[in-house]
Amino acid sequence: MLGIVQVHINGDEIMAFEQDARKNFPEWPQLDEDDYAAVKSVLDSGNLWCGAPAVHKGENVWAFLEEFAEFCGAKHCIAVTNGTHAIEVALMALGVGLGDEVIVSDYTFVASGSAVVGVNAVPIFCDIRPDTFNMDESLIESLITDRTKAIVPVHLGGMPCDMERIMEIAREHDLAVVEDCAHSHGSRYKGKHLGNFGDCGTFSFQASKVLTAGEGGAIMCNDDDLAEKIYSVSDCGRKKGEYFYDHFRYGSNYRLGEFQAALLRSQLRKLKEWQNGLRNANADKLRTMLDEIDGITCQSKLLGTESVGQYVFPFKFDPAVSPVSKALFYEKLNDAGIPTDDCYPPLHGLQCFKEMRGLKGIDYSKANWGGKKSDDVNFPVVTSIFNHSVEFPQELLLVRDEEDLAYIAKVVAGIMAGK
Ligand SMILES: Cc1ncc(COP(=O)(O)O)c(C=O)c1O
Repeated sequence: MLGIVQVHINGDEIMAFEQDARKNFPEWPQLDEDDYAAVKSVLDSGNLWCGAPAVHKGENVWAFLEEFAEFCGAKHCIAVTNGTHAIEVALMALGVGLGDEVIVSDYTFVASGSAVVGVNAVPIFCDIRPDTFNMDESLIESLITDRTKAIVPVHLGGMPCDMERIMEIAREHDLAVVEDCAHSHGSRYKGKHLGNFGDCGTFSFQASKVLTAGEGGAIMCNDDDLAEKIYSVSDCGRKKGEYFYDHFRYGSNYRLGEFQAALLRSQLRKLKEWQNGLRNANADKLRTMLDEIDGITCQSKLLGTESVGQYVFPFKFDPAVSPVSKALFYEKLNDAGIPTDDCYPPLHGLQCFKEMRGLKGIDYSKANWGGKKSDDVNFPVVTSIFNHSVEFPQELLLVRDEEDLAYIAKVVAGIMAGK
């Protein structure tokens, strides 16, 4: 058995089924001898943690930071425990705290919003664009109040947000920008890797991500002072080069471990050498094939998009063209042996946010969610896309044979034709 597929359909309705055998589709993670050797080398070295710069221990975390920063074309990279903590640490270092408001895309994993609550601030959810499925930058200014401190755009599936417009708005209103790049390893836009547009970019290396060590995260930035603060927050308030037991600011232990860093170094080589290129080429081919089917629309690339990390591949179907339901879509794809992922339920409807009112002594009254404000009518685009879309996992894009992509398109066309 390949596990249970759960699909969230509408409101609280969830369907679940056993995933059938995959037809030729790759599995994830892809581990080879180099990965085993990398993890073993940590055991052999006896250095099981990275230490701090003043008492340097294992080499892998420090080396990974340099290698990942180079891959992203960023000046600094700081490794942390996971992608959720990466957002929290970044917000803390940027001085976002009690009662501040942070504008967050509504179509993302819970972490993009819960990390804001983690620093005692208030997430304000922003509906998305119908073409890119990303934060609708034309709505941001209507959500800004005198308490707004930051914007967290999320590049869904690694597809770039309109970072130029978002940065213009941020500069005009003196707001920090933390790009949630949990899906964007390898995504390039207008000459830069994503994460280089805002004050910093945060990454996740959780098990399903295109660069993974099971868990892990990183923050990249190009500003020396901010990088120093981020490092300090992530390592118990320490400062580089200072006495190990001096703690200069509030921070905690968000350090990444040596085993994970060793595995990430080995996985990064494969991402660079072939996985990113293959995923991109296959995603472009699949997008072209699916967009030709009447009633099917894939995420569109903004002008200037050079490559897409392509963690997940979402597409929407038009119920006016075919009366097919989301449940039927998932069932038929499963019957055809094509792996799928559930789409993220929009954040405005999640119980954890609705129940947050009154918690932590924070004034949530100005939030655009909770009670009637969480009604789907207030988030029309994301609601419609969520109810009429399907998602493929990233590893499906590692197929070697174009026939496999043609097979997917044929099955999708058949479902739209009522077969
Ligand atoms: C968009 C987004 N942001 C943040 C995270 C959080 O990352 P992690 O699971 O490493 O905490 C995820 C994880 O799936 C994510 O998809």
